[in-house]
Amino acid sequence: MQKVDLKNKTVVVTGAAKGIGKAIALEFAKVGANIVLNYRSSVSEETVAEITGYGVTCLPVQGDVSRFAEAEQVIAAAKEQFGSVDVLVNNAGITKDMLLMRMTEEAFDAVIAVNLKGAFNMIRHASKLMLKQKSGTILNLSSVVGETGNAGQANYAASKAGIIGLTKSTAMELASRGITCNAIAPGFIETDMTDVLKGEMKEALKNRIPLGCFGQPEDVARTAVFLAENPYITGQVINVDGGMVC
Ligand SMILES: NC(=O)c1ccc[n+]([C@@H]2O[C@H](COP(=O)([O-])OP(=O)(O)OC[C@H]3O[C@@H](n4cnc5c(N)ncnc54)[C@H](OP(=O)(O)O)[C@@H]3O)[C@@H](O)[C@H]2O)c1
Repeated sequence: MQKVDLKNKTVVVTGAAKGIGKAIALEFAKVGANIVLNYRSSVSEETVAEITGYGVTCLPVQGDVSRFAEAEQVIAAAKEQFGSVDVLVNNAGITKDMLLMRMTEEAFDAVIAVNLKGAFNMIRHASKLMLKQKSGTILNLSSVVGETGNAGQANYAASKAGIIGLTKSTAMELASRGITCNAIAPGFIETDMTDVLKGEMKEALKNRIPLGCFGQPEDVARTAVFLAENPYITGQVINVDGGMVC
């Protein structure tokens, strides 16, 4: 199959105001794709300007992906502005870490609602358009802890393991219509999400990474573009983790 040319394609990235989502939006902009930048609380003018600096259009769309109707509005805004959704990147995610015995029902539900149901909501709405187009690529952010589990992250690990099942099922259902679906499982990437960890915990984590250093958002972003450009890959989980899970 031919490499997909992403120039002038429409890429929707959820939770893209900062961190890995922002890096993914920038990486797609670099290859000429127009960006629908979903954000929850706010996005800076500087971030939008960085993206449009690559000569593409960036449409910021506020919306909480855990709400079915708001996810629908994000896709509707993309369709109205660009007429299509070629790539959907389900990046929005949260953590509410605590040991299982202390974990509240609210903390469990909130993480599943954003990380897992949010991805379902977006796929449900975007796939309608992709089915009509008979093409499209869906990328879901999982995590190494979805593969291995992690003490203190039962809710988060469950959401990220769920993403893998969602990804493989979506890939199987939509392959015959020219739509691919893959997951990316990052290890420890330096963003606000991991910045909250204490110094000694970070050092202990670093010792568990065979390549000996933390990853950067761009490491994940380049993988996202690679997957979107390669239409013969579907139903896979690609680890970007410095060798943490071999
Ligand atoms: N960093 C890592 O080491 C790592 C490792 C494995 C997997 N991941 C995954 O990679 C993704 C990005 O992580 P990150 O490290 O870049 O996190 P981050 O810096 O905390 O950014 C997360 C983004 O998601 C947005 N968001 C949260 N809830 C949302 C909602 N309901 N609707 C729409 N947007 C929402 C946030 O917006 P607000 O700030 O406005 O809430 C924020 O922009 C997540 O799915 C995460 O689980 C990260």
